[in-house]
Amino acid sequence: MQLRVISVVGARPQFVKLAPIHQAFSDAGVEHIIIHTGQHYDHNMSDSFFELLEIPEPDFNLGVGSGSHAAQTASMLEPLERIFLEQDPDWVLAYGDTNSTLATAISAIKIQVPLAHLEAGLRSFNRAMPEEHNRVLTDHASDLLLAPTKTAMNHLSHEGLAGKAVLVGDVMTDVCLAVASNHHDAYNPLEAFGEEPFYMATIHRAENTDSPQRLGQIIQTLAQLDLPVLLTAHPRLVKSAQSFGISLEQGSLRPTAPLSYPQMISAVLQARGVVTDSGGLQKEAFLLKTPCVTLRTETEWIETVELGTNLVDAQATAEQISDFIGTASTKTWPQETPFGNGSAAQSVLETLLARNKSARN
Ligand code: UD1
Repeated sequence: MQLRVISVVGARPQFVKLAPIHQAFSDAGVEHIIIHTGQHYDHNMSDSFFELLEIPEPDFNLGVGSGSHAAQTASMLEPLERIFLEQDPDWVLAYGDTNSTLATAISAIKIQVPLAHLEAGLRSFNRAMPEEHNRVLTDHASDLLLAPTKTAMNHLSHEGLAGKAVLVGDVMTDVCLAVASNHHDAYNPLEAFGEEPFYMATIHRAENTDSPQRLGQIIQTLAQLDLPVLLTAHPRLVKSAQSFGISLEQGSLRPTAPLSYPQMISAVLQARGVVTDSGGLQKEAFLLKTPCVTLRTETEWIETVELGTNLVDAQATAEQISDFIGTASTKTWPQETPFGNGSAAQSVLETLLARNKSARN
């Protein structure tokens, strides 16, 4: 097939989105070049995702590592521009909302390489989040906006971007449903920490981890929950907790290193409920029929709230969390799936092909 696409990824949720895209491209014979910026570099934040989701080794690894927003973003720009010029792709595909996404957009547009943004149109309307700036700027820079939901399409329309937007569905749904059916027993809580039933928790957003008061409040809440809490600890959380002198081993908390994607999906399937500030996990919990409490002031996945499976409340107490999860567990799960039917990657491929010539002109 005459299509040459460069995917740029760098952080854990982008590797998850890349998996179904690579599968669809590879089945269709698309020439697919993968660039890893190196934003995430620990084995269990990066390589394990490539291995278990059967993504080939990246063609390029920029190895940028950690740094301030400016340092991290800046160190990606020059190598990305050079590779885009050398490789002359039909499309550069940017994923999600990380610093790697924004660097991809800035590098591509100035040299007029056609840029498509996957997971376009998500908005939290919270300008304190670095991710919100990354999304808005990338959407406005892109030639093609691949939106996961109707809500995302509406946001793009309000910003005058409807002409570039296509509703393709959510690629994370593709991979979540496939992994849930093949790896439902990838995680064994009794072997791992010897207790059941349990809640599962993740906390990593800067607004929750970067101040000692806020992080202390969250850890205290989780530690007071009425069941053991499997806390899969992102490096940002571990670093902040250490530097603020906050112990992650208290009360109900059972901290563990980040899980592989199949283990994560399996743990969500088995958990009584999920408590998180992750974007992707709120939606995975919905798809796997596990109630979720989101410790933030807003969510990009508003559908999960409207359908009654996700409570978004930055100040939720331990009692409110267990009450919500208990009540939501007994409800009939919504039949409606606003995130597509698991074939979003195929729609992405078809859209890139259909828009290929027009983008070049
Ligand atoms: C990034 C994304 C966020 C995404 C998240 C998923 C931005 C602005 N944020 O946040 O949208 O939801 O990834 O995880 O791009 N670190 C390690 N090892 C690693 C990766 C990170 O130790 O493999 C440390 C870094 O040193 C840094 C901290 O974790 O101090 C945060 O990493 P960073 O890439 O800045 O952002 P995330 O919080 O992971």
